[in-house]
Amino acid sequence: MEAFARQDTSLHVEGVALDAIAREVGTPAFVYSANHIRGRYTALHSAMADVPHRIHYSAKANACRGILSVLREAGSGIDVVSGGELFRALRAGFAPEDIIFGGVGKTEDELREGISAGVKLINVESLAEIELANGIAASLGRTVNLGFRVNPEVAVESAHKYTKTGEKGHKFGIPYDDVEHAASIAKGLSNVRLRGIGMHVGSQLRSLDAHRAGAERLLSLVEAVRRIAGDSLVALDLGGGLPVRYDDESEADVLGFASIARDAAKRSGLEILVEPGRFMVANAGVLLTRVLYRKRTGGTEYVVVDAGMTELLRPSHYDAYHRIEAVSRDDRAPQIVADVVGPVCESGDFFARARSVPDVAPGEYLVIHSVGAYGFVMASHYNARRRAVEVVVDGNRWAVATRRETYEDLVRHEPPVLDWRDGA
Ligand code: LLP
Repeated sequence: MEAFARQDTSLHVEGVALDAIAREVGTPAFVYSANHIRGRYTALHSAMADVPHRIHYSAKANACRGILSVLREAGSGIDVVSGGELFRALRAGFAPEDIIFGGVGKTEDELREGISAGVKLINVESLAEIELANGIAASLGRTVNLGFRVNPEVAVESAHKYTKTGEKGHKFGIPYDDVEHAASIAKGLSNVRLRGIGMHVGSQLRSLDAHRAGAERLLSLVEAVRRIAGDSLVALDLGGGLPVRYDDESEADVLGFASIARDAAKRSGLEILVEPGRFMVANAGVLLTRVLYRKRTGGTEYVVVDAGMTELLRPSHYDAYHRIEAVSRDDRAPQIVADVVGPVCESGDFFARARSVPDVAPGEYLVIHSVGAYGFVMASHYNARRRAVEVVVDGNRWAVATRRETYEDLVRHEPPVLDWRDGA
């Protein structure tokens, strides 16, 4: 089923008209299709039906409770990278054994939170972190299951250099050549058990080459690690990175990915873990925004809307393309070539430049597509803007999953009078 389709000229999400939602909750608003997300989970899960596997949705893409619940109910596990995401995952009802806790810079407090919760794996990224985790586990009288996030040091082709993570010298993971040493350190510590080995090579990957090469590199470590660690290894984590269609990219090769996983499972005898974020949610979401003004200056036509880089940073930060449509006009409506920009005081605050867009008037609504991943989660309060509302649509029903912030929310943590302490 198409999550976003027109009924006459009016764009709908599943069975609900977007302009009705906009009128009710205001704009800017993120609107997500629950059935699109279920469809994505099922597509990946069934492609891997004959592979021993577990999908751990990467919460960083979208950690809204309403979305986490949809994925949990669909059967997904979860991957978190901070104490805050761990808190969100537990609050959304994920069992600790369905949670993987990764991240390159976990603090001691965050490690303690993960170990106390009893998560399935803590994915560590350095020798020092292994020792820190061991010390914390000992102080809690526990043994912690570790996964090693390895940097496979392969060539990565992704949509932007900021989203490559598996090349030599990147900050992520244990350097490939240090992995055996790390395994012997772990072996010598009494409160850690090495359960997994894994990677995450990048995001919005252009092909499966990096997954394939990275998996090969991990497989060639498995035997050496087993010789050191004994047979404690149970899992091989292939990370996330499956691409989605923003413009004219091809759809993710889910079957190709499953065949890499199948081969890795057969050769290693390990369960395959996957951590998709974008693939699950990106195309499930739109950002609804209202046209405030039209203006022309220095030969450029501008459409000024009420959403900005504070709601969706991707165009500004990665030069990312997001398709834009009018809510109540179809593609046959007259077009103009314009820059679609937000109200934030920066020239980098844009959604599209010199793009052919509908000839909309102030008051009309636009949708910016494919914002379900790395949209709301990357929002900021710059210019004292309140974070937007998030809405989930499920069939003919819809609900507010996150209410729009109020001005009071913006200042909640600021005491009206400073409580000065003596620092001398
Ligand atoms: N696992 C790990 C360890 C990760 O670092 C990431 C993403 C994922 C899984 C999920 O990757 P995905 O399946 O979503 O590609 N803000 C950027 C994307 C940053 C991705 C960071 N790591 C963007 O808007 O394009």
